[in-house]
Amino acid sequence: ESYDMGGHDTYMHKEIAEQADAVDRVLRGRIDDRFSTVHLGGLNLDAREARGVRRVKILGCGSAYHTGLIGAQLIEELARIPADAEPASEFRYRNAVVDPDTLYIAVSQSGETYDTLAAVQELKRKGARVLGVVNVVGSAIARETDGGVYVHAGPEVCVVSTKCFTNTAVAFALLGLHLGRIRDLSVADGKRIIAGLRKLPAQIAEVLAEEPAIEKLAADYADAKSMMFVGRVRGYPVALEASLKLKEVSYIHAEAYPASELKHGPLALIEPDVPSVAIVPDDDLLEKNRATLEEIKARSGRILAVAHQEQEKADHTIIVPKNEVELDPILMGIPLQLLAYHTALALGRDIDKPRNLAKSVTVE
Ligand code: AGP
Repeated sequence: ESYDMGGHDTYMHKEIAEQADAVDRVLRGRIDDRFSTVHLGGLNLDAREARGVRRVKILGCGSAYHTGLIGAQLIEELARIPADAEPASEFRYRNAVVDPDTLYIAVSQSGETYDTLAAVQELKRKGARVLGVVNVVGSAIARETDGGVYVHAGPEVCVVSTKCFTNTAVAFALLGLHLGRIRDLSVADGKRIIAGLRKLPAQIAEVLAEEPAIEKLAADYADAKSMMFVGRVRGYPVALEASLKLKEVSYIHAEAYPASELKHGPLALIEPDVPSVAIVPDDDLLEKNRATLEEIKARSGRILAVAHQEQEKADHTIIVPKNEVELDPILMGIPLQLLAYHTALALGRDIDKPRNLAKSVTVE
């Protein structure tokens, strides 16, 4: 892609629209149907080393941290390695114990975020194995890490991340699949995930075709005083990212909580002009999520659900196509990028350059 706007009014819109092609690119040449796995040429981690990994710790900032949360779940589900994610900025300041059996992964679009780079340098100084999941080829983080997976989202110009977020989540699915097939993921599950990954570009196009309906919803929700985003397990990082995106471009205050945490405090905020966005995938937590919708409705809160089927308790449901449950977060975030975009547009915001923000934070 060039830096040309390509007929779009903003880079954010252009980059949202490019996601089917971008995902196609991150998959291209990497799938190995013969062994139901993927090839990740730059990983620099052989099968024996991969089997020796006892934990995975993912580090990044902002949207990159949120994709790290999705990545940790994918690695834990597919490779059955305990995995978690932490903001790189917190990690570097807390004198963390560096464990030789842990595989550290730095995530970054730009590859230049200072806090993430500093975390990598500290880890390297202490002898850790650090991989990168990075978009910009040859960037500082790509150079400092021992190997990794390029995200191949293409240039991302808008300050808020959209296509790179999605592609990074797909890159983590590839990494989870690769590690899983070296460890205990079956051939059948490998095939199932590969088939799911292959469906993604067409399903992204289906989600993007819902834009006119999402534009109307954005007009309905643009008068909100604040918004609450909730999700459980796979839905929680989607809620976090959607809330960040709305804040960044529309300046509407938003909070994101794991759905089960609502009753431990934030439920006090729910009232008619504080609508909620609920991530409701058709997974084993569907009934639990429906109970959350009832909890919100009982406090007169408006609800917009992102789901695989119409949600009776919600005022509006955006339906996304069904894929394999592990891949749900990848598709469910996309309509909420459009929601943030159209809300910001309705409010007349400077979408590509939100106030007070820079594309990459290269200072402390
Ligand atoms: C993207 O929406 C954000 N502006 C921001 O949170 C960003 O993800 C963060 O600063 C990390 O940037 P990086 O991916 O380039 O490291």
